[in-house]
Amino acid sequence: MRPRTAFAVFKFGAPLIIVVLVACYVVYYLFEPHLHVDLVFYDRQWINAEIKPITRLGGCFDPAHVSPLYNLSEAVYGKKKNEVQAGVPMRMGMDCYAFAGTITDLDDGISHTYIPPDERAQFHTYWRVDLAPLGERQEFMLKSFFATQNIPRSRLILWSNGDLSTNAIVQKYLKLFPDSFTLRVVDIPELAKGTAMDGHKLLDLTDKKAWVDGDLVRLLVIWTYGGAWIDMDMLMTRDLAPLLEHEFVTQWDCYDKVYQALNGALMHFRKRSPYLCEAFHLMANSTPPRSPSTDWGAILYLRLWRRLLLESIPPFKILPFCLSDPLACRLDNSVPDPFIPDRADGRWADAPKGQGVEEGGRLEWALDKIFTVHLHNRWDKNFPKGGWVERLLLKKYDAKLKKQIGRDEF
Ligand SMILES: *[C@@H]1O[C@H](CO)[C@@H](O)[C@H](O)[C@H]1NC(C)=O
Repeated sequence: MRPRTAFAVFKFGAPLIIVVLVACYVVYYLFEPHLHVDLVFYDRQWINAEIKPITRLGGCFDPAHVSPLYNLSEAVYGKKKNEVQAGVPMRMGMDCYAFAGTITDLDDGISHTYIPPDERAQFHTYWRVDLAPLGERQEFMLKSFFATQNIPRSRLILWSNGDLSTNAIVQKYLKLFPDSFTLRVVDIPELAKGTAMDGHKLLDLTDKKAWVDGDLVRLLVIWTYGGAWIDMDMLMTRDLAPLLEHEFVTQWDCYDKVYQALNGALMHFRKRSPYLCEAFHLMANSTPPRSPSTDWGAILYLRLWRRLLLESIPPFKILPFCLSDPLACRLDNSVPDPFIPDRADGRWADAPKGQGVEEGGRLEWALDKIFTVHLHNRWDKNFPKGGWVERLLLKKYDAKLKKQIGRDEF
């Protein structure tokens, strides 16, 4: 470049850059820019084949087809004590946590009569023995369950694809809570008997990430036993009882992605629920799931939900993201990353002194209102020493269990 040209570029370029910068600053000062970058490419052929067409339901809600074990007028049309849907995504401030606080505990009091394990509220979780041994990180989930749920009224069934009975951690909880904890090995063809998936050729699908078969297992065990599914990578923070008058899945995150809006990491359906009957019908009559994919998870729930609407059946509920997955929104209104030491992290630690991540602070306030914290696997990570998970959750579990069993086992 000749010196004169360079000077001209500078003469006009420099003021222009300054003007642009000042303009940007003024706009930024006056307005709050919102940009959520999330670019996903969905195969048009797949959308046209799987998402857009709304096929007929399988007739599971016809009173003649509803199982005598399922009370349609109570479960679907009955009056409920709590509302569990907010109607908007609650992306502002602490709205979602505050909403969780409107769900009040049922006043069913302390039970003095013994409830046989089969008649209790059933909770299911699943561990694949071929993925990793069940160790301390998995124990935290068990601990969180027994520390937060109403033990004499509940039973947790730990499902697996192999024997877990020799595992020392599992043995400890079986001994401590013999009527509230049990093991089962999954037999998919057996569980599928009598459903639309009975004898289906897709039943022995397996994939390394445990998505597709994990997705099927949860629907089958809830169909057979009824109850709530809790993914193993969750820590429970509150008794789920007030949610159980509803049948529900959860919101994937606070962004409501068009095809990926729903999640089944925490879900609840009654035994022989016609919603699940319809899910099996839809699985049996759709193209096989891609692997790995959420075709038998998030995508299936959404396809089912839309079919229910079209046939004027009240759909299952969708819990707001933070009730089960408070990491699924922005930095400033998600709980802090559980796997890094506490630090100024969005709103929680920025809050005025006395309202952050310390005991009695804003984070604890939120954790007491929501029901679970979904950790999204990350099995290789540990909770930092003295971090909020240890202080606000794990230590509390230990204290609670110690009180419950009258001695220190932990
Ligand atoms: C179903 O639930 C309704 C409302 O709770 C109740 O009145 C009715 O007796 C129940 N039916 C059966 C068969 O239990």
